[in-house]
Amino acid sequence: MLSRVGYRIKQSWFLLFAKMNAEDKAWVRNHLNIPEAALFEMLPEFEQKHSVGTAKALIRLGKARGIQDERMLAKLGLLHDVGKAACRLGLFEKGILVFLNAFIPPVYSWFAYLGRREKSPKFFRKFYVHKKHAKIGARMLSRARVETGVIQAITLHGSKITKKSPLLAQLLKAADETY
Ligand SMILES: [Fe+2]
Repeated sequence: MLSRVGYRIKQSWFLLFAKMNAEDKAWVRNHLNIPEAALFEMLPEFEQKHSVGTAKALIRLGKARGIQDERMLAKLGLLHDVGKAACRLGLFEKGILVFLNAFIPPVYSWFAYLGRREKSPKFFRKFYVHKKHAKIGARMLSRARVETGVIQAITLHGSKITKKSPLLAQLLKAADETY
């Protein structure tokens, strides 16, 4: 519970202050092909920065578990939240969304439910996209022909991960929350 709150506070911090620097941008260029980079570019800057941190943590965790494919681990980290790009958020909306998700999750879930239809009011639709971003992102990535293992781990990161989940999904969850 405490780690979850800590993670949310860190997310809120990112929301306000995270900036991609030249080193981050070069690192992303070195680890994604053109269609993948185009999807990454659709993310707001604070999500890009969070994804770079998640990718680097994932490489460390993956190598510790014997996974040597650094490019695949980087791709998984960099693209895991790409579904959030399906709906652009203003700063005010981002603030409300992150606050409700962190501190009043039932209201966050209720707003997401109110946005479940494509013609739902935009304000609620943004909550729906945020809540369902794992599955939405997986669909975007399968159109970009990203490998199956990466898509599977990204799909799963929106749901409960246990010790029986695929290793990549477990590592992604850990990297996402600890970064
Ligand atoms: Fe994330």
